[in-house]
Amino acid sequence: MIYKVASACIGIILVMAWTYQPVDKLVDRSVVSVLEELGADYSDKRPNMSIPGVSVEVGRSIIEDGFAQKPGGGNTGQQSKHFVCTSCHNTQREDPDLAISDPEARLKYTSDRNMPFLQATTLYGAVNRDTYYNGDYYKKYGDLVNAARNDVRGAIQLCAVECAQGRSLDDWEAESILAYMWTKELQIEDLGLAAEEKAIIEDVLSGNGDKEAAKFMINEKYLHGSPATFVVPPADRKAGTGFQGDPEKGMLVYKNSCLHCHENGKYSFFQMDDHAITHKYLNRKADGYSRQSIYQVIRWGVPTKSGKRSYMPQYTSERMSDQQLADLRAYISQRAE
Ligand code: HEC
Ligand code: HEC
Repeated sequence: MIYKVASACIGIILVMAWTYQPVDKLVDRSVVSVLEELGADYSDKRPNMSIPGVSVEVGRSIIEDGFAQKPGGGNTGQQSKHFVCTSCHNTQREDPDLAISDPEARLKYTSDRNMPFLQATTLYGAVNRDTYYNGDYYKKYGDLVNAARNDVRGAIQLCAVECAQGRSLDDWEAESILAYMWTKELQIEDLGLAAEEKAIIEDVLSGNGDKEAAKFMINEKYLHGSPATFVVPPADRKAGTGFQGDPEKGMLVYKNSCLHCHENGKYSFFQMDDHAITHKYLNRKADGYSRQSIYQVIRWGVPTKSGKRSYMPQYTSERMSDQQLADLRAYISQRAE
């Protein structure tokens, strides 16, 4: 009897030892939840869920489908006649290192995951940024940027009207988009913290050490605003960007970027496909100065024509490098032969 009780006790102890894990304070945590525990305040950025109709699903639906179900039944009108938010924005992570904006690393990262490569910054982690429409976007939108630069709600509204060329959003729709964006906030595991860094932060969370230093360590691991630099097309279109192009990479730009909007005229009247005849056309036009030159449209975008409000956003140097422009050109010339 004593023997049986003793062995049962040993059994229980073994099971407890087996299931015991050290408390890991960073597992499955969002970046903001940790920063808040360290004293940061994100309350202004949280969606107002008390407005009737606000939900994550409504936000998702406007972003991906362009409309949503109204709280009383029936659908809202289309937000934009031309686009949905995902015409220009990814909603998943798109950069391998969140602390730098590198279009070449991004092209590899996104194409490995069958994601498009687009002009606008992903909505993943948008709630973690402090500033929006950075850098040269001021040149394009002027004072309109003021309401958006430090305010995520202002950024959502500016984009709905100016980028998507659609109607402005009602409060319940904008708050729903914000609610959805909070489901796409950065996670601690996205940051690639080293084991020692994690140990220091965990120690601070346990009440030992300097909270400011821990916040600093976390904040350094991701960009707090997406940089944006406008660049002009090469002055001599025949000479191009001066870089030697790699057609393999150019193919990824063509398929994951251009065709995302132009295949079967999805978001544009201008149809593009991967046939030689299309490449011949683009190749011939590239060296010129018309609105069919890839250099022209990529660096300056395509403005709206009167009566038609659709337009093509330009690529900043952070969203497509001159090297990538040369790669695209190399692919188009190769396919035109
Ligand atoms: C035609 C393309 C296009 C469409 C459609 C579009 N956007 Fe944008 N959006 C942009 C561009 C370009 C920027 C400039 C800054 C950036 O993203 O790098 C931007 C910026 C933003 C920003 C600020 C991002 C930052 O970090 O600076 C938010 C938020 C945003 N858009 C939300 C939306 C939402 C929500 C929709 C749908 C209602 C939408 N956008 C539709 C092109 C577009
Ligand atoms: C976010 C969607 C989007 C992406 C990505 C995109 N375009 Fe466009 N593009 C448009 C829209 C919209 C127009 C305006 C024409 C229209 O009203 O349909 C346009 C216009 C053009 C035109 C001018 C057509 C004309 O005759 O006026 C060319 C050329 C062009 N795009 C090439 C490209 C190339 C090359 C790429 C890839 C690097 C690309 N586009 C990526 C949406 C896009």
